[in-house]
Amino acid sequence: MTLFPIPTTAIIVVAAGSGTRLGGAAPKAFVGIDEQPVLRHALDGVFAASPAQVIVVAPAGHEGVAETLLRDAAGGRHDLGSVVTGGQTRQESVAAGLKALWGDIATVLVHDAARALTPAEQIDAVAAAVRPDSGVIPALAVIDTLKRVDSGEVVAAVDRSELAAAQTPQGFPRELLEAAYAVALASGTEYTDDAALFAAAGHSVRHISGSALAFKITTPADLTRARHLLSEASAAGGPRIGIGTDVHAFGGEGNLWLAGLQWQGEPALKGHSDGDVIAHAIVDALLGAAGLGDIGEHFGTAHPEYAGAHGDVFLARTAEILHEAGFAIGNVSVQFQGNRPRFSGRRAEAERALSAALGGAPVAVSATTTDSLGFTGRGEGIAATAIALVHSTR
Ligand code: CTP
Ligand code: MG
Repeated sequence: MTLFPIPTTAIIVVAAGSGTRLGGAAPKAFVGIDEQPVLRHALDGVFAASPAQVIVVAPAGHEGVAETLLRDAAGGRHDLGSVVTGGQTRQESVAAGLKALWGDIATVLVHDAARALTPAEQIDAVAAAVRPDSGVIPALAVIDTLKRVDSGEVVAAVDRSELAAAQTPQGFPRELLEAAYAVALASGTEYTDDAALFAAAGHSVRHISGSALAFKITTPADLTRARHLLSEASAAGGPRIGIGTDVHAFGGEGNLWLAGLQWQGEPALKGHSDGDVIAHAIVDALLGAAGLGDIGEHFGTAHPEYAGAHGDVFLARTAEILHEAGFAIGNVSVQFQGNRPRFSGRRAEAERALSAALGGAPVAVSATTTDSLGFTGRGEGIAATAIALVHSTR
């Protein structure tokens, strides 16, 4: 088991609003932007930032869904996350989140789930800028010319150079924020954001530059904008391709294992695991496509738990590694060279087994002989080559 240091920063992700202005069928946090909802995108940003305690504040009755989204976004760091139930107002929701802080937390970031596309860099920059005696907010310069109006009349121009549009996450020293919340709750005053509440308690708040991507999804037009941004991003990122090859010699013990299947009476291949060249070539193709290293690094002799393991174990773990890193598998094509086994009779079965091990992504397997040439042609072993396509889910 890997032991990680306990973080001193916490991020409270408030997601307990109903989303009245968006007018979706579900609370705003659970409305889909693409195949993933607002909250999942927000959490992807949060988990891409430096490790922090993550507290999701969910609408009453939706804690279970929030927990699932948290688990999926956290990957291997689910130990950092928890879900609490929100309140009637945003301020009450933040207060509920504050109650769940761990003892070691010194810096608290409060973040709107509705700012779903906030870059991880903005989260890290806010956390880094918090000081023991002052809070910090990301803010954007105001672009539009502003007017002060009164029932149909423009009464004055407003100097926009004095104004900034506040975003989240907003970061604060923990103890001062807790004390400021206690005062606000006792007085019953509702503030428009955490910075206003913190400033009302007499503390200073500084600002750093925000990001256009950190806009708040409030109206249907905002949701459309988020959808466009995501589809542009995935088109720019495009699919990624990877290649993998593997070779094993005959001479192993027992029956042959190939393409995730056992082949009764066929000579076995030798290897640290079961010698399944097809499964191993697929693993390398997938890891390569995602830029996540190779089979030796994840499953080699340094990982004795995989000694003798069959292909499905390697493939399932590989799919998990990709998923944790934010990749989905498009498809896999693999070909092996060998005089035996006679493959065509079990092709469909093999493809189903490999696909199931990968969580359902399509896998096509073809077989060829080499006209008696080379080591495969001489019947010394089997070689396989795989290519895989993956795409980022972030
Ligand atoms: N929020 C919350 N608890 C509330 C109200 C709001 O946790 N009682 C959260 C929202 O989930 C959102 C953030 O605060 O992530 C900013 O609020 P807003 O954009 O106003 O969201 P909603 O209140 O859900 O939307 P609306 O005001 O349109 O109903
Ligand atoms: Mg609201």
